[in-house]
Amino acid sequence: MRAVGVTEFGGPEALHLVDVPEEHAGPGQVRVRVTAATVNPTDTHAVLGAYASRDPVTQPPWVPGMDAAGVVDEVGDGVEHLAVGDSVMAVVVPSGAHGGYRESLVLPADSVVRSPKGATDAEASTLPMNGLTARLALDQLALQPGQVVAVTGAAGAFGGYVVQLAKADGLTVVADASEADEQLVRDLGADVVVRRGDDVARRIREQFPDGVDGLADGAVLDERVLPAVRDGGRVATVRGYRGDGQDRVTVIPVLVRRVAQDRAALDRLREQAEEGLLTLRVARTFPAEDAAEAHRVLARGGVRGRLVLTF
Ligand SMILES: NC(=O)c1ccc[n+]([C@@H]2O[C@H](COP(=O)([O-])OP(=O)(O)OC[C@H]3O[C@@H](n4cnc5c(N)ncnc54)[C@H](OP(=O)(O)O)[C@@H]3O)[C@@H](O)[C@H]2O)c1
Repeated sequence: MRAVGVTEFGGPEALHLVDVPEEHAGPGQVRVRVTAATVNPTDTHAVLGAYASRDPVTQPPWVPGMDAAGVVDEVGDGVEHLAVGDSVMAVVVPSGAHGGYRESLVLPADSVVRSPKGATDAEASTLPMNGLTARLALDQLALQPGQVVAVTGAAGAFGGYVVQLAKADGLTVVADASEADEQLVRDLGADVVVRRGDDVARRIREQFPDGVDGLADGAVLDERVLPAVRDGGRVATVRGYRGDGQDRVTVIPVLVRRVAQDRAALDRLREQAEEGLLTLRVARTFPAEDAAEAHRVLARGGVRGRLVLTF
């Protein structure tokens, strides 16, 4: 079976096609013939070996990739919600050779749901991981309709879904954007857009002098965003920040792997995409064998929408 992985950790050039053994769906699992796998920022860290010490698998190859879409081709015992031939999207928690970048992938059935109607596989593949992360971030912020949430990195995949889910939750959204991204972020539904940058907290405070109730930090600005948040407010962080300011605001780390088998949440994301509440954004597709080039493009920054590998 074709996969894209690394046998030695390194930069994008470390990625190459690898051969992995065929596997079959056991009880509670499904097998997906993957046609589309997203390239996420975390994959670049995986390729560098940043997660190797916590991976129970110590033998190469390591296959990155945290979400995928394709067609179910095997269903294990006890799985009721999917059938062979269904078009599906899935969230993947990579370990060893089990990452999204492979043409055939056995997964817990609760990590796999039907793709949104009308979406291409590439479009569907952009939703599970970042959609679930955005949902978890908002759930952990625990805001009520009418409260204000700020979003940094709003033009990105995670930030964009936070903006759209927050609007669907009835929140007021203030989001950051470069001048070039301002219309994009407004189109996603942000009520107020402020210029992105290190002083984004000051700009948010200018708009909301009492501070916002919660903030989702997709741009990973860490302590620089804290002044935007009111006393007693919450900040959802996506890269493990646990820094200062916790006496005044609560900093909450968001870890998508905690919800990787939350099928109800995945299915709700599918419904919201079908209702037009979530926009599935593909920047560009690459044949799987060009994964190294996809990683180079991601590393250069400025990508809007997701890069997707096709198998
Ligand atoms: N903890 C988890 O479970 C989890 C799950 C999903 C994602 N994440 C993390 O969440 C972060 C966002 O992911 P993503 O997929 O949304 O990435 P993305 O699509 O690349 O979006 C990040 C956005 O932030 C912008 N940005 C970068 N530096 C900035 C700055 N200094 N000020 C303002 N904006 C800035 C980027 O703009 P440019 O392109 O112009 O740089 C981009 O628009 C990543 O660090 C990712 O690893 C964590």
